[in-house]
Amino acid sequence: MKILVTGGAGFIGSHTVLTLLEEGHEVTVIDNLINSAVDSLERVEGLTGKKINFCEGDLLDYGRLRALFDQEEFDSVVHFAGLKAVGESAEEPLRYYRNNVVGTLNLLECMADAGVYSLVFSSSATVYGASENVPLIEGTPLGAINPYGRTKQQIEDILTDLSAADPRWRVAVLRYFNPVGAHESGRIGEDPKGTPNNLLPYVAQVAAGRRDKVTVFGSDYNTEDGTGVRDYIHVMDLAAGHIAALNFIANKNGIFRWNLGTGRGSSVLEVVSAFQKASGRPIPYEVGPRRSGDAAVSYADPSAALVDLGWRARRDLSQMCSDHWAWQEANPFGYTHQAGS
Ligand code: NAD
Ligand code: UFG
Repeated sequence: MKILVTGGAGFIGSHTVLTLLEEGHEVTVIDNLINSAVDSLERVEGLTGKKINFCEGDLLDYGRLRALFDQEEFDSVVHFAGLKAVGESAEEPLRYYRNNVVGTLNLLECMADAGVYSLVFSSSATVYGASENVPLIEGTPLGAINPYGRTKQQIEDILTDLSAADPRWRVAVLRYFNPVGAHESGRIGEDPKGTPNNLLPYVAQVAAGRRDKVTVFGSDYNTEDGTGVRDYIHVMDLAAGHIAALNFIANKNGIFRWNLGTGRGSSVLEVVSAFQKASGRPIPYEVGPRRSGDAAVSYADPSAALVDLGWRARRDLSQMCSDHWAWQEANPFGYTHQAGS
């Protein structure tokens, strides 16, 4: 198939592009590089020996997007492009709604006009809000608790309405839990700009000596060791989930929603200890106050994806940490960042 990947230069996008190429698909990426570097795609080309058609462009630039759909014929779209920092979304809600929601509306209009009705959309476990009714199933009532999460929930609503209005749409909504790890080569991985918001990249930078210590956000939760529990999932397992979803919607109309997680929760302290083991480096930490808006426990019931797609996560926490570390160690400052930045 010929697939358009929006946001394909980013963390999950680059790993999925690699997997799509390995599966024999042709890939065009549109990305404005607001949170990524084109180096990721160059490295994917190096790893696969295949070409990616790269278009530097913004989904908010309707004319640019339209021209791309005029120039090329796509069978399907995998839509990663979006802003994803929870804290930033609370400070700049308009930017988040415009980028994520309006960007998606532009994309859907171009798709419909070009007769492309197959879409895989990156949603998030964040749509379940603070629900601690674990394991989370797809039918859990949604209730995002921050602007970022609400953009995902609104896009899900738009896709539901669109599928109801026009039965030609074939839409897979994938709700990711906590994506971590990197391709086993250590050539591509997560490259956060500035201070990482998420646990794994932060821990990895402490292991690499870029930061002094990890702050554990609260140790008084009602969990086994008192720290927050999440469902970490290897990014290559996530990439495989996209292939499975694309195959599923190739001949099924309607909208489908799947959790992509392992079904297993790990605490902050378990992650610190697993990363210490994988890296062989000390990871000092201190316990700080809770981070506002954090749920104590969040993990998936991923059984619907197994039943419908035949997909399940295969890699465990120790592999997530060792692959993440291989990337971090080989690229201590990411793709293009200078030492000290
Ligand atoms: P990322 O920031 O690495 O990738 C997103 C990419 O989209 C970046 O390359 C960025 O430059 C691009 N982009 C953003 N706005 C754009 C626009 N208007 N036009 C063109 N390109 C644009 O993030 P990621 O971790 O790879 O996440 C991919 C998707 O998965 C996002 O939609 C994110 O919300 C979702 N998601 C991520 C996580 C996570 O923890 N990483 C969890 C759940 C869902
Ligand atoms: N944590 C720390 N210290 C840190 C960072 C995080 O203790 O420096 C803790 C958090 O309190 C939480 C756990 O580590 O208990 C995981 O936190 P992350 O920030 O890595 O992940 P979240 O589950 O909070 O959120 C992430 C993304 C969301 C997404 C969600 C589900 O940031 O956008 O996963 O996919 F919606």
